[in-house]
Amino acid sequence: MPYPFWETDVGYGPLMAVIAVLHVFVSHFAIGGGLYLVVAERAARAGADLQRLAFLERLSKFFVLLSLVFGALSGVMIWFIVGLLSPAGTEALIRTFVWGWAIEWVFFIVEILAAILYYYGWKRLSARRHMAIGWIYFVAAWLSLVVINGIVTFMLTPGAWLETGEFWDGFFNPTYWPSLVMRTGICILLGGVFAVFVAGGHADRPSRLRIVRGAALWGIAGLLISAAGWLYYENVDVLSQKAFVDVAERLVLPTMAVEYMLIAGAILAGGLLVTGVFAPGLQRRPVGFVLLIAALMGFGAFEFYRESVRKPFVIHGYMYANGLRVDRVEAGAEESLLESIAYRTGDDGRDLFNYSCRSCHELEGYRAIKPFFDGTDKDYITGALAGLHAMRAPMPPFAGNAEERAKLGAWVAERVDTRPLHEIHRLEGLALGRRVFEMRCGSCHVRGGHGDVTETFEDFEAEDIDEVLSDVEMSEEMPVFSGDDKERKALIDYILSWQAEAAR
Ligand code: HEC
Ligand code: HEC
Repeated sequence: MPYPFWETDVGYGPLMAVIAVLHVFVSHFAIGGGLYLVVAERAARAGADLQRLAFLERLSKFFVLLSLVFGALSGVMIWFIVGLLSPAGTEALIRTFVWGWAIEWVFFIVEILAAILYYYGWKRLSARRHMAIGWIYFVAAWLSLVVINGIVTFMLTPGAWLETGEFWDGFFNPTYWPSLVMRTGICILLGGVFAVFVAGGHADRPSRLRIVRGAALWGIAGLLISAAGWLYYENVDVLSQKAFVDVAERLVLPTMAVEYMLIAGAILAGGLLVTGVFAPGLQRRPVGFVLLIAALMGFGAFEFYRESVRKPFVIHGYMYANGLRVDRVEAGAEESLLESIAYRTGDDGRDLFNYSCRSCHELEGYRAIKPFFDGTDKDYITGALAGLHAMRAPMPPFAGNAEERAKLGAWVAERVDTRPLHEIHRLEGLALGRRVFEMRCGSCHVRGGHGDVTETFEDFEAEDIDEVLSDVEMSEEMPVFSGDDKERKALIDYILSWQAEAAR
């Protein structure tokens, strides 16, 4: 690891999520809003609709402020944050796509200049020039999506790039086209929803109703395109690969995100139809605001889906979310992880934790590690580190050697509650047994789910179970039972109780 580790008091996931979701929301709006402005301007000029032109001028002010000021600032912020959060991932993206980024920035500069000229030119430029600049704005903005879409989809489905390392293989990867269709639809949708929101405050009632209705239809068209894009996206072959299906089964987040996205889509469809098309009189600012929130929620949910289904990778199949390359980890249990860290703090346990776990977990706080280990002990933790990748949650394997595993195990054990579970929770009998199972087995063996062992124990006697618990040769990825006698007995009784349960 050639980069220092950036330690903050915030969970990295939420930090990135908030800024990135707001940024993509605004930047997609910047594209769709641009298209809405020029198309609506053309129609308004053709019909000599002065009310509508006045509205568009007002919308374009809001538009320039929001998309240029917030969009540009949050975009720069994202660069800072990804660079600090995932320097190795950022480096890999820059190495692969340096010309892609360069082109993206050219489009971005054109986009900004055109947006400023467009706003400035309402009264100062001829109608033709003004509209030409509007088109230049929209095309440049959309082309920046065309470029960035290649890089974002690459992280999820790098496709043939994994073998060839070729720019174009990575760029036009298996989710490129569906994602472009979906995102273009989202841009159009957002342009419509923002226009509905701003139009809700327009003073002149007849023209307000007209503008709201037009913008709502526009938004619905965008929603339909993005829905078609999603169906296309969801059915891309690659996403039915085991790795992705597995994650969706093991983590609740991807499935939940898709549900939220569909709910938001339904709210938007209903809201735009009722308060936009059928009864545009209902469309006042608060209603428009609700629709904006629904759009933010739906779009955010899609981004969460994409991010979570990619776990545990930052670039699927190539680099894990903690910045370690897959080939390095595969090569690696013999190699020292510590020696590969360029900036060491002197506290090896902390370095190992930061570089292996911290990109996804805090000790306490965001996706805390502590509750997973409270009530266990150093030997359990060290043993479990060997089987991280066998756990229910999709995680990278621990990339250090055996000595480092023991170091990290001891470091974590010093920071969690290592009293036995019966002491911490005052549990007895089956309740204790169930808890012991959850803490010491449940991360890798879920009853009725991931790594289920219920059937294995079907005809086991107490002594057989006892033997399994002490068997050092069960699996290198499985810790030998290290709880005290009381916990051992409770666990055995609990496992035996499954047989009675099955007989019933
Ligand atoms: C790629 C991100 C990622 C990395 C890196 C990572 N984890 Fe996890 N881990 C997760 C996720 C996601 C969960 C599921 C959390 C949940 O369900 O609430 C999880 C859950 C766990 C659990 C509970 C397992 C279960 O399913 O009950 C343990 C224990 C754990 N992590 C330990 C670690 C340790 C120790 C490290 C570092 C050596 C680490 N993790 C590195 C993402 C990661
Ligand atoms: C850190 C992960 C991990 C933990 C914790 C863990 N195991 Fe395992 N266990 C494994 C792995 C990996 C295998 C090998 C699975 C395979 O080969 O299919 C395994 C295999 C088994 C098997 C035999 C294989 C089978 O599918 O029937 C049994 C029985 C078993 N474990 C029971 C337990 C019990 C009981 C506990 C708690 C005391 C436990 N394990 C804790 C990872 C773990």
